[in-house]
Amino acid sequence: MKKTILTGLRINSEFTLGNYLGALLPMVRLANKYSSEFNVNIFVPDLHSIISPVEGDIKSNAINSIKHYLAAGLEVNENIHFYRQSRVPAHAELTWVLNCIASMGEMKRMTQYKEKSNEKDSSNVGIFDYPVLMAADILLYGATFVPVGEDQFQHIELTRNLAERFNNRFGETFVVPVSTKEQVEFMGLKEGIRIRDLSSPEKKMSKSALGENSKILLSDSPEIAVKKIMSATTDSFGEIKFDFKERPGISNLLQIASLVQDRPIEEIIEDWNKKAQYGELKKYVAKAVKNLLTDFQAKLMDYSDDYILRLFAEGENYANRIANAKLNDVYEKVSLR
Ligand code: TYM
Repeated sequence: MKKTILTGLRINSEFTLGNYLGALLPMVRLANKYSSEFNVNIFVPDLHSIISPVEGDIKSNAINSIKHYLAAGLEVNENIHFYRQSRVPAHAELTWVLNCIASMGEMKRMTQYKEKSNEKDSSNVGIFDYPVLMAADILLYGATFVPVGEDQFQHIELTRNLAERFNNRFGETFVVPVSTKEQVEFMGLKEGIRIRDLSSPEKKMSKSALGENSKILLSDSPEIAVKKIMSATTDSFGEIKFDFKERPGISNLLQIASLVQDRPIEEIIEDWNKKAQYGELKKYVAKAVKNLLTDFQAKLMDYSDDYILRLFAEGENYANRIANAKLNDVYEKVSLR
């Protein structure tokens, strides 16, 4: 059986440089490397996206999001499948079955839930349950590799736990994705990626950050992105060192440089280690990000909506076939069929 690599990005608002470097670009690089031997599933988690307010029209956002992968260099072929989650009803159906084996305790421990809801009673149930939907997204297709940023690792571990629990209780049904440690290795990294907020580098760069210079959007003009990087918070040590605990701002810039240029972090550290020039490093990173955005934004124009809709038509056909077969197996195992 061919292995599957799978990922998705919510489309409730525009993508940040964090989404791009943490998930989109790693997926594109893996797909280009492995799509001759693996299935590659790139799906739009549109049902996930409505857990928070949606900017713009969700149907157009779905189309646009796929253009982002193509503009980032994805080479399309018949082993790469594009689909929208809401067009494959099995995702919602498997979620229900998995809900019945997930425990309240493990769900309440999800950091993303705590952060997104502040654990308020008024927060919606979708925010609480979305890790189970994510598990369904992965398990329906037997995905082994799920390239995501570090903030999603807890959900991968939950997916593994739910798959193992189901298999133990009802018999071998699901492929268990590899551990987050192995996911990181598969991405060719030493640790998970967590791009930081430029103004408050102890936090991750997030779509919802309010600070004007906190995040870079992929739609930012390259000049604006340069300004944001030049105003990034650093520290008062005055010496460039890669150390996220003590020097998150500088380490974030080094990490961005490494990912944008696809050069090992060790090389970037070697270039800059112990140099005192924070301003020089910022200029270097700003230039790399400026080039990235200029190239990326030009390429985004190259793809028509019709082309993406054709990719969805093929992909959704495929996805429904695979997902329905797995769902049927699950229903048989729990005696619903
Ligand atoms: P979402 O939409 O919040 O984020 C999309 C992807 O971007 C990564 N990411 C980051 N990586 C590094 N640094 C950052 N600052 C940063 N911000 C975001 C996220 O880790 C993610 O990989 N539940 C998921 C979407 C999803 C999914 C799935 C992913 C639903 N089902 C199945 C994989 C497989 C989410 O909300 O990601």
